Amino acid sequence: MKSIKSAGVIGAGVIGSGWIARLILNGIDVCVFDPSKDAPKSVEKVINNAERAYKNLLRSPLPKKGVLSFLDTVSEVAKSSEIIIEAVPERLSAKQSVYKEIELNASNELIITSSTSGILPSDLQSEMKNPERLTVAHPFNPVYLLPLVEVVGGSKTSQKVIDETCSIFSNIGMFPLYIKKEIPAFIADRLLESVWREALWLVNDDIATTEEIDDAIRYGFGLRWAQMGLFETYRLAGGEAGMRHFISQFGPCLEWPWTHLMDVPEFTEELVDKVSNQSDDQSGKHSIDELMQKRDDNLVDFLKVLKENRWGAGNTLKEFDDSLGNSRIDFSELDVSKPLKTFSTHIPKDWADYNGHMTEARYLDCFSEATTELMAIIGADEEYIANIGSYFTVETHIRHLDEVLIGEGIYSKTQVIYGENKKLHLFHWLHHNDGRLLATAEHMLIHVDLKTRGASMPGDSVIEKMERIYSAHKNLPKPEGLSRAVGDKV
Ligand SMILES: NC(=O)c1ccc[n+]([C@@H]2O[C@H](COP(=O)([O-])OP(=O)(O)OC[C@H]3O[C@@H](n4cnc5c(N)ncnc54)[C@H](O)[C@@H]3O)[C@@H](O)[C@H]2O)c1
Repeated sequence: MKSIKSAGVIGAGVIGSGWIARLILNGIDVCVFDPSKDAPKSVEKVINNAERAYKNLLRSPLPKKGVLSFLDTVSEVAKSSEIIIEAVPERLSAKQSVYKEIELNASNELIITSSTSGILPSDLQSEMKNPERLTVAHPFNPVYLLPLVEVVGGSKTSQKVIDETCSIFSNIGMFPLYIKKEIPAFIADRLLESVWREALWLVNDDIATTEEIDDAIRYGFGLRWAQMGLFETYRLAGGEAGMRHFISQFGPCLEWPWTHLMDVPEFTEELVDKVSNQSDDQSGKHSIDELMQKRDDNLVDFLKVLKENRWGAGNTLKEFDDSLGNSRIDFSELDVSKPLKTFSTHIPKDWADYNGHMTEARYLDCFSEATTELMAIIGADEEYIANIGSYFTVETHIRHLDEVLIGEGIYSKTQVIYGENKKLHLFHWLHHNDGRLLATAEHMLIHVDLKTRGASMPGDSVIEKMERIYSAHKNLPKPEGLSRAVGDKV
């Protein structure tokens, strides 16, 4: 998989700033060119929104943020980047002149991707010196949250560039959908435009207001689309008999005069006023900032549900989150002379109560994660559990020492107090990223055979690793608070 350390973004509007936020939060340094003097401020705002969303979305800690620099020319950006993401306004000539400037100084390996919503890549590359390096990578707003990116090559794009582009975007948590035949507006916008066209007719003909149309989507089929798309949803609409039955039942309707098909309503001043005024009535009570935060909060929670259910876009999120957490070092290089760093995260908003601080139950969640991480370190990972056994927690004692608020970072450290045969006795410390001690937990675990559900000896490799840690940790000072019960005297 190709991963990168630096990227250039040309055009930092709605889409460019979404790209910048995704890249920076993935630890990639980003150079930007945008002629607008307001660009740095609006980019900063989008990065803040993205950071807020990621803290709720991801369990794993993010890498250290990449460095952001605004440069004075396109060619300076081209010189210091491994990939260029072009996101200038949707005009062929504007995009082509950007490519011309990039190619003045660029290395032959530099990949250029265009965020265009529908211009053919063959047209975009038609005047380039090295047209094989250009591909379309069409993202969706907000780019930092939605995983889809449509990747489309032109007639001169090399397959290597397409493969590398897909690989670069997979590495930053996206779902590259390679579209093998170029077509104006690609797949997603073709579908969206047909719905947009029909919606404009409904407003134009006074059949529905903008709000009624949005309600028809968000209270019904919009919820289905987010998780199953069109065909899988219709398959279910056909009942047990599936798609064939669905087509025989509803297929003929398409020939009835239900839709306006390619007949597009003209954007007369009257229609523009009507749509805009209705939209103000519908949504004007919220500021754009409020709407963006609400959209992000809802998207984060939808994505988390899909991740829990291992479905659709949730699978991309799971892979991404796991890849961020997989920076575990090799066991042979593990420093066992001190407690092990086991878990870190940021507090998502659904872990907090009405006070804005982490609820009591989530402290146990954090300690369970710390134990899971220790299990993984000694080799009792998913594969081991599926084939050999697992550790069950038989006793827990937690001390809640300080509070932690939504969005703040935490980490845990773990000392093995006892680790021989079937028993594992752990002591965890939970710290705030500012160093404060938030809580401690003590757990006793017993190794269990998952077939007999009875206590059993761990596998040899687990015993070996556990013993290596235990033999070092037993010489460490006993943690303050070890073996405490609830402090009150009765
Ligand atoms: N807005 C969307 O929902 C969306 C979704 C997917 C793709 N796109 C595509 O992304 C591209 C950008 O769209 P947008 O919505 O971000 O537009 P935008 O108007 O919000 O931003 C364009 C930015 O480009 C800058 N710019 C103009 N000329 C430039 C130049 N010569 N060099 C560098 N920067 C320049 C502008 O100052 C502005 O900041 C378009 O091709 C569009 O089709 C948009």
